[in-house]
Amino acid sequence: MADILQLYPVTQQQRALKGLYLELNLCEQAADGDVLIYSNYIASVDGRISLRDDDSAEFVVPESIANKRDWRLYQELAAQSDVMLTSARYFRQLAHGKAQDLLPVGGGPEYMDLTQWRQQHGLKDQPDVVVISNSLDIPETALEEVQDRRVISCTSERAGNAQRERMESMGLTVLVAGRERVEGKQLRQLLIDQGFRSAYMIAGPEVHRTLIADGVLDYLFLTTQLSLLGHDAFHTILSGQLDQPVDLHLQRLYLDQLVSSQQLFAQFALHPV
Ligand SMILES: NC(=O)c1ccc[n+]([C@@H]2O[C@H](COP(=O)([O-])OP(=O)(O)OC[C@H]3O[C@@H](n4cnc5c(N)ncnc54)[C@H](OP(=O)(O)O)[C@@H]3O)[C@@H](O)[C@H]2O)c1
Repeated sequence: MADILQLYPVTQQQRALKGLYLELNLCEQAADGDVLIYSNYIASVDGRISLRDDDSAEFVVPESIANKRDWRLYQELAAQSDVMLTSARYFRQLAHGKAQDLLPVGGGPEYMDLTQWRQQHGLKDQPDVVVISNSLDIPETALEEVQDRRVISCTSERAGNAQRERMESMGLTVLVAGRERVEGKQLRQLLIDQGFRSAYMIAGPEVHRTLIADGVLDYLFLTTQLSLLGHDAFHTILSGQLDQPVDLHLQRLYLDQLVSSQQLFAQFALHPV
């Protein structure tokens, strides 16, 4: 069904949701010896990606903006990745049922085409996982959800030996990419050294800043759900300081006309293309 209106590049063309991001072939875009890193968020027009839940005091994606059509695109981005980059806090939330699933790609009949797509493009059944953490406080129960993949924990020199050994005893590879904190450039090199060609960043604003501040993020995909949420305890797509403003270069913009509350799907490049 052609229910997506392409607004940029300007065509006024109607498109189908299925395949909208898959056609980008992100797994084949990196130059030899390099890796393509991309992030993706859904936000309200007032910029909220998560709100604090009054009962649990956890920050969670607001139910009113999460929707299946955006989730289809989330899955399409995951399907094109060799590895998914996430945070330890995500795993801590996952351990007590407060995080969205880490997929798997192609779980459920409506996403089975993505499993085939991966096979056709020579990718493993599921992307590997890199967990970014200084504390290495990653609950074992949450790791059980990703037993079908290789899991690497990426940390800094500040991580304690006892925590590193605990991670390794749970079957994780622990790699260091920074002195005080994980640094974007070192993380990118680590991904290249591990042979990854496409990396999908699904963590929150701190990991995002880590990549953007070091200039190693290639694309930002942003779904803007056309609603206002308010609330004073929230996350946006970026936290902390940047040395200078970072320009975004619009690549594509679509209007999703089917959902009860409309949404915009945008792709930005972080460097001129
Ligand atoms: N709406 C959306 O599309 C969307 C997408 C993603 C996330 N979210 C929401 O955003 C909220 C925050 O997500 P998140 O917890 O994944 O956020 P995050 O702010 O990116 O991650 C925080 C954790 O990651 C680790 N970390 C981040 N940068 C690091 C660095 N440079 N070096 C070492 N460790 C680093 C730290 O782990 P340690 O404490 O273990 O050291 C830190 O506690 C959640 O509520 C989530 O649901 C929403």
